[in-house]
Amino acid sequence: MDALAPCLLLLLLLLALPLHLLDLLGCWQPLCKAYFPYLMARLTALTNKKIEGKKRDLFSQIKDLKVTSRKVALLELGCGTGANFQFYPPGCKVTCVDPNPNFEKFLTKSMAENRHLEYESFVVAYGEDMRELADSSMDVVVSTLVLCSVQSPKKVLQEIRRVLKPGGVLFFWEHVAEPRESLAFLWQRLFEPTWKRFGDGCHLTRETWKDIERAQFSDVQMEWQPPLFRCLPVGPHIMGKAVK
Ligand SMILES: C[S@@+](CC[C@H](N)C(=O)[O-])C[C@H]1O[C@@H](n2cnc3c(N)ncnc32)[C@H](O)[C@@H]1O
Repeated sequence: MDALAPCLLLLLLLLALPLHLLDLLGCWQPLCKAYFPYLMARLTALTNKKIEGKKRDLFSQIKDLKVTSRKVALLELGCGTGANFQFYPPGCKVTCVDPNPNFEKFLTKSMAENRHLEYESFVVAYGEDMRELADSSMDVVVSTLVLCSVQSPKKVLQEIRRVLKPGGVLFFWEHVAEPRESLAFLWQRLFEPTWKRFGDGCHLTRETWKDIERAQFSDVQMEWQPPLFRCLPVGPHIMGKAVK
């Protein structure tokens, strides 16, 4: 199998050659940023249907948090289309951060559909550098399917800790790598270069649980969930919370 892997990789790269060429020429990124929100709008509906109960349980914990202000200051990191708004309890004041401004149209629609929330702002920024947000300003940060796509999970987690108030909570749901020795992991490695292009930077083989565990939160709780769609090379999910 070890010898077969580079051959399969080469074949995949050849098949995806036009895509990689466009990327080299700098034409792919703008195209990808334009279509990705449409793709996510579709995918969100599908994934939310599958994971609805789990998300509801996770985010219902927000109403039990002891916060000092009247409203729960919540940062939706890598907000995309606003896939999680429907699961937040009333009384949240939501700040959205995403580097792709093309999500705004979809966000506006989600906001209009979720009037139980108050919306603070949509900040176009990378999670690695959220200088627009003050230190210790958030009660809650939410990251769902984001740490797979960022440049540096380590820097993003540092920024999350910076903006969280002491005792503030990061809620996460992320897909991660299959076990290293498995055939599924080999497939992930083969698909990753092409997948990343189509999926706006999404990595398949990140061991994100390690980044979260190393990020110096005072308490981390996570559960593992099987892959959502067996037909895709996307691995299992981790869901949980990390307390600053
Ligand atoms: C797969 S989508 C998930 C969107 C949404 N959180 C959800 O659960 O549907 C990944 C999101 O992360 C955003 N993203 C990519 N790189 C990022 C970065 N460095 N910092 C913050 N968000 C980023 C993308 O623009 C996109 O909105």
